[in-house]
This record gives sequence, C-alpha cells and structure tokens, in this order.
Amino acid sequence: MTVVLRSPQELRSWRKQQKGSVGFVPTMGALHSGHEELLKQARRNNDVVVLSIFVNPTQFNDPKDLEKYPKTWDADLAMAEANKVDAIFYPRYDEMYPDSYRYKVTENSYSNLLDGAHRPGHFDGVLSVVMKLFNVVAPTRAYFGEKDFQQMTLIQGMVESFFMDLEVVPVPTVREEDGLAKSSRNVRLTSTERMQAPAIYKAITESQTADEAAERLTAQGFIVDYVTDVGTRRFVAARLGDVRLIDNVQI
Ligand code: PAJ
Repeated sequence: MTVVLRSPQELRSWRKQQKGSVGFVPTMGALHSGHEELLKQARRNNDVVVLSIFVNPTQFNDPKDLEKYPKTWDADLAMAEANKVDAIFYPRYDEMYPDSYRYKVTENSYSNLLDGAHRPGHFDGVLSVVMKLFNVVAPTRAYFGEKDFQQMTLIQGMVESFFMDLEVVPVPTVREEDGLAKSSRNVRLTSTERMQAPAIYKAITESQTADEAAERLTAQGFIVDYVTDVGTRRFVAARLGDVRLIDNVQI
C-alpha cells in the first residue's frame, strides 16, 4: 500500500515511524520508465521508498512551460504502487513555500553555464526545492538521473557544501529504442517532431566536435540553445517547435 502525504508536517510524522534506510526519488510527476528506473534502484537498496511529486514553479523560467507541464496523477499513482513505493509526498505550493521564496539556495559558478545560461533562476529553484525536500524526507539515499547531469552535479555539490547527511546516487539515462532520452516533455511533441527528435542523440554521439553536432541539428530544423563539451561529456539543448529537449553523453 502506498500512502499519499500532502503536507511537510504529515510527511515528517510518518517519517518518524519508519525504520531502516530511506531511498528518495524526487520528481515533478508525469512519470515514465526513466523515473521508474530510479524507483527500482531505490526499492532494491533501501528499506523504505519515498517518491515526491511536485511541479516546482520556482524552477520554471517560462510560464508557458509550467502551464503546459503534463499531469498524469492516476498513472503516476499506479506506477508508484506497482513499484512498491511506501509513500508519495505530494505537497501544495503554499506549504512548500511558506516564505513565498524569500529564502533560496544559489550556486554561483557552474549553475551559470549550459542550461543555467539559458534558463535564468532555474537552478536556484531546483536547489531550493531539493533542499526543502531533503529536509522534510531526511533520506539515506536520493536518486537522480544522468539525463539532467548538470542538475545532478549541482545537487551533489550542495550536499557536500552543506554537510547534508545523505548519498546522492546517479542513474544512467533511460532512452527510447531510437535513442531519444525519455522525458515528460516528449508527449508534447507532434508526431512529425517526435520522428525528428532522435536526431539529438545521433548528432551528439556521431559528431567529432560540438560545433559539428550543432550544425547538423540546425540544418535539420532545430533551434539549438547550445552543444558544449565539458570535460568528458557533451551537453545539448535544442528546441523543436515550443518543446525544449536536453541530453548529454560521455565522449
Ligand atoms: P523530473 O524532470 O520529473 O525528473 C525527476 C528525476 O528523474 C530526475 O532526477 C531526472 O534526472 C530523472 N529522469 C528524468 N528522465 C530520465 C531518464 N530518461 N533517464 C533517467 N533518469 C531520468 O528533475 C526534476 O524532475 C526536478 O528538477 C526535481 C529534481 C524533481 C526538482 O524539482
């Protein structure tokens, strides 16, 4: 049985009754098999599993993206139950932001690159909500997808900087058969765009350089925000119509 807890107070009193390790999977819902892989790892390696579903407004720099973010509560609940999730934390906005976002967590360096350069305030919103979620859930381990590699790296850095007592566990990107990284936003692609979308993964894996990948995507009708190599990884963000897709691979 999966319990649904709607406020930080409810989650906290439930948490106090749990014994053993707690694996935590934070999400914004519209769950797909990428999220499910995080849930499976959490289930395998912990006594208790908590999933959070919260479409966090402070990390959306584009109001239309927030408005159009898919919501699939019934299917999400079914996936949680099928994966033996013990509790879903599903808070309301006001209860997550009692201070109306006067307090926030900011990283001043890496968060300004890549996606941060194109989405002002995005990573402040992510780090702030994840800090809140960690403080409420008090997990032993928290699972994050490499699909959002910059996000995962920033969260690992936050955990180290603030001596937070938990382990951040990275999970490899889950893809469709054609290579497209699974994403909640994929359902917003038209059928033509859906056929074009795997070109993102092909371009970043097949090109010799980041510039070559960017040129390939532009020639195929994508609006490219960036293709950039950082260390041994190649990062991309590109738009098809009004859907913005991101991906990254080891090079
Ligand atoms: P969301 O986009 O719902 O993703 C939740 C988690 O699932 C993230 O750790 C993300 O990296 C992971 N994930 C998404 N698609 C994946 C894929 N194809 N393969 C593997 N993992 C995948 O990321 C967020 O929500 C939010 O920013 C959040 C951390 C919840 C803070 O609001």
